[in-house]
Amino acid sequence: MTKSLEFRTFPAGRDGDAPDASTAGWLEADTLGFLGRRPTPAHAAALAGYLVEDAQALTGVYDTAAPAHSLHADIPVATFASFERPLTVSPGVQLPAHLISSVTVRATHRRRGILRRMMTDDLARAADAGFAVAALTASEASIYRRFGFGTATWVHDLAVDTDSRFALMTLPQGQCSVIDVHDIPGLAPALFDAFHAKQPGSIGRHAQYGDRISGRITEEGDEDRGRRAAVHYSDAGVLDGYVTYRFAGWHSQPHTIEVTDFVATEPNASLALWQYLASIDLTTRVTYSSGPPDDALRWALVDPRVVSVKNVDDRIWLRILDPIVAFAARAYSHDGSVSFRVDDPLGFAAGSFRLTTEAGAGRLERIADAHVDLEMDAWVLGALYLGGADARTASAAGALREFTPSSAATLQRLLASAAPVYANTQF
Ligand SMILES: CC(C)(COP(=O)(O)OP(=O)(O)OC[C@H]1O[C@@H](n2cnc3c(N)ncnc32)[C@H](O)[C@@H]1OP(=O)(O)O)[C@@H](O)C(=O)NCCC(=O)NCCS
Repeated sequence: MTKSLEFRTFPAGRDGDAPDASTAGWLEADTLGFLGRRPTPAHAAALAGYLVEDAQALTGVYDTAAPAHSLHADIPVATFASFERPLTVSPGVQLPAHLISSVTVRATHRRRGILRRMMTDDLARAADAGFAVAALTASEASIYRRFGFGTATWVHDLAVDTDSRFALMTLPQGQCSVIDVHDIPGLAPALFDAFHAKQPGSIGRHAQYGDRISGRITEEGDEDRGRRAAVHYSDAGVLDGYVTYRFAGWHSQPHTIEVTDFVATEPNASLALWQYLASIDLTTRVTYSSGPPDDALRWALVDPRVVSVKNVDDRIWLRILDPIVAFAARAYSHDGSVSFRVDDPLGFAAGSFRLTTEAGAGRLERIADAHVDLEMDAWVLGALYLGGADARTASAAGALREFTPSSAATLQRLLASAAPVYANTQF
């Protein structure tokens, strides 16, 4: 670690509409790290507004010994951000989660332990503040296990052929309507919240979301005028879903609609929105990179093979900071008991525990470090917590070590989620 590095954590701030000096330098570094364009003053102002609205805590790492022609000393060589949003741990049950984002280290400073220092400091602050879980979405899957994060939810990158083979077995009820995409930032939050409350694995959305999905401000800071939106009304006239999308262009083969966000509070609304997307003339494919792994669409189609999965991507990575609080928060569908030891080099989840579930509630208690049924690393605990990952598969991979026969199956049964685990939020 270079002695000339200064680590500073500060709240995102503004001077009038513009970012304050620390936030402006941090934003420059963040866009550099993610290979984006330098922000214009207007884009920087918008980004600062979102960060402030989210109450994001920003960390910048400053190199006080940078050579003369380096980027200005106010532009950090590394960035890191954290903020709070609710994680739905069971249908109707939410837990405040410590979200981590904007992790970058400049190419000239990588692999010297800067990420490790930012991460360990930040997780310690989150644990002190009382968070039971931390979460992130990852650009690469090889970085975060070492810090105790495991993949807890997945998405399917879907391609749906919408030529004449696309037909639903039963026509959905209600009606779809094309709306002005500028209305999305106003309409989307309430619909998302209704979806989010019921959906295990879902993470609350940050301030930028409405503008991003509507294309008002893209990652590059411009408006995407190709963005469109449709909503669905139930037979009772209740708004219960929306989709935002864009045409991929006349060069796309086959002509393709790219979905940028899809939220339905009822299964019927989801099928109706798919029916709408499939009805867009001059196009014969719809893609959606954040589809649920267990989509009712396949069941509803006359020919389920019109749906293909191009990729399975990890989405939410979870890190348990306080196992006692985290396991008491979620609901359980089966009664039983199992014990396990967690190896956690950062300490937060380390120890031996017994999980006992009864009548829908669960209790995790520390036990003497003697015999346990199972043993795992902290990242495995994060992966298994919501019930979206299978403990038996983790055991088959050697990630979960079984000392009592069939105890991985017992853990799987106890942690099984009441509904499929899925998150359509990225941060
Ligand atoms: C990923 C990134 C932040 C790593 O920063 P860094 O300061 O080089 O990381 P550190 O030196 O602290 O490395 C800590 C550990 O992670 C490992 N590591 C870091 N980046 C890794 C990567 N991309 N893949 C695999 N391992 C990685 C290091 O080898 C080191 O391992 P060790 O603990 O066994 O020694 C940096 O490469 C980066 O900015 N990448 C581009 C932006 C990005 O993808 N950010 C992540 C967003 S989710």
